[in-house]
Parts: sequence; structure tokens; C-alpha cells
Amino acid sequence: MKVIVRDNYDEVSKEASRLVEEKIRENDELVLGLATGATPLGLYENLIDSYKTRGISYENVKTINLDEYLGLDKNHPASYHAFMFETFFKHIDIELNNTYIPDGVPASAEEECLRYEAVIDHVGPVDLQILGIGTNGHIGFNEPGTDPNSLTHVVELNASTIENNAHFFQSIDEVPTHAITIGIQSILKSDQVILLASGKSKAKAVKTLLESERNVNPDFPASYLWTHDDVTIIVDKDAYQLV
Ligand code: GLP
Repeated sequence: MKVIVRDNYDEVSKEASRLVEEKIRENDELVLGLATGATPLGLYENLIDSYKTRGISYENVKTINLDEYLGLDKNHPASYHAFMFETFFKHIDIELNNTYIPDGVPASAEEECLRYEAVIDHVGPVDLQILGIGTNGHIGFNEPGTDPNSLTHVVELNASTIENNAHFFQSIDEVPTHAITIGIQSILKSDQVILLASGKSKAKAVKTLLESERNVNPDFPASYLWTHDDVTIIVDKDAYQLV
């Protein structure tokens, strides 16, 4: 696991966008694994900027998102479909047909999980997976206790996750209780992983992650990243407090 420490959130976002741009320059048919949440917003802004000013094109790029809330239609403003469209996709030249996000209102959630895992295998494998981290160590929506062999599945969200994500909704009561997330095994299928973390609220999770090399365990799902051979974490000084 490679660790890059930068002064602040803007520098973390710059470093992340530099790495993504380099990958797209190397391979214009890149398959990018994308995350939602507040952390990647700066990365997406920089990528929009490099598309507009330096012509980095997404015409042939494909994206596969980590997760979606169960029960939210893609037109719901707090759905991850809407989040990705508003914060990234509508500003670049990507074909929406090449962007994949689990369906939040499937006829059968079980079938949707199987369908989405097949997307990961057939559209992917993901060349570069972007991750954030939950304060409890979740990646995607893989909450503590998740089986390391898990593929795309339905999860019940932890109370802390619901609380942390409530700011994207009008009130905490509107946050869905369940989601569809790609599994830990699905994440580990990616060729390369970049995890971003910023701010004091993530310091404990980053410390636990860095200390979990010899203690890879389901109570801290991000620890499974130690079993992958190409993971870079990019953190700011606030999130990197090891004492
Ligand atoms: C959400 C997402 C994760 C994200 C995490 C951290 O629950 N499902 O993919 O990494 O929260 O979010 P934030 O970046 O807002 O702290």
C-alpha cells in the first residue's frame, strides 16, 4: 500500500486527478470505478476542468459506480445516479450508456445484484477504482462484518452511515435503510485502487487502515485492501494523524 500525504483537501484532489488523467492518456478506453460522497467532489471538479481546458476526453471511457440506495429512483435528487450526473457526467463528453450504477428500484434486488456483478466482469475489469472510506472503515457500502468474498449484494446501512450521509437529504428520516453495493471481492477485482481521505473526521479510520496490515478483518472492511497489490491512499494532513 502506497501512502501519499498532501497538505490539504485541494492537494489531495489534485494528486488524484493527476493520476486519473495519466491513466486516461495511457488508455482512452479506461474503465473507471467511481465513488460518491463528499470526498471525490474535488477530484470530479478537477477532471471536469481538465476535460474543458486540456481536452481529456471521456468519449470511450466507461465508468462503474460502487453503489446505490435501495428505494431511490434515479430521478431522486439524493440518488447516486443524480449525484454522478450533476457533479460529473453532465459536464464531460461521456456517453451515459457507458456509465453503470446499480438500479435503486429493481423488480428483484437479488437479480439486480447478479446483473451488476456481470457488468463488473464483462464491462470491466475496472482498471482504476476510486474509493472513499466511511468513518467505520466501510468501502462502497460494505459495512463492518461484510464477508471478504462478497460480490454485489444488498446491505442494511449502519446507524453511523445513515447519520453521516444525512446531509445529502432533507432530513435523516429520508435516508434509505438499505443499499446495493458491489462487494469486497468485487472491489478487489480492480487492477488498481486509489483511496481518498480528507479531514480530521477520517483520521481514526485512516490510522486503523494503516495499522491493519497484520490484522485484516471483517470488522474493518477497508483492511482487505492490504490483500491487493496495487493500492494507493491519498490523504491530507488532517486525516493522517498516526499518534
Ligand atoms: C458513503 C459511500 C462511500 C463513501 C463514504 C464516505 O457511504 N457509499 O462510497 O466512500 O460514504 O463518504 P464521504 O466522502 O462523504 O465522507
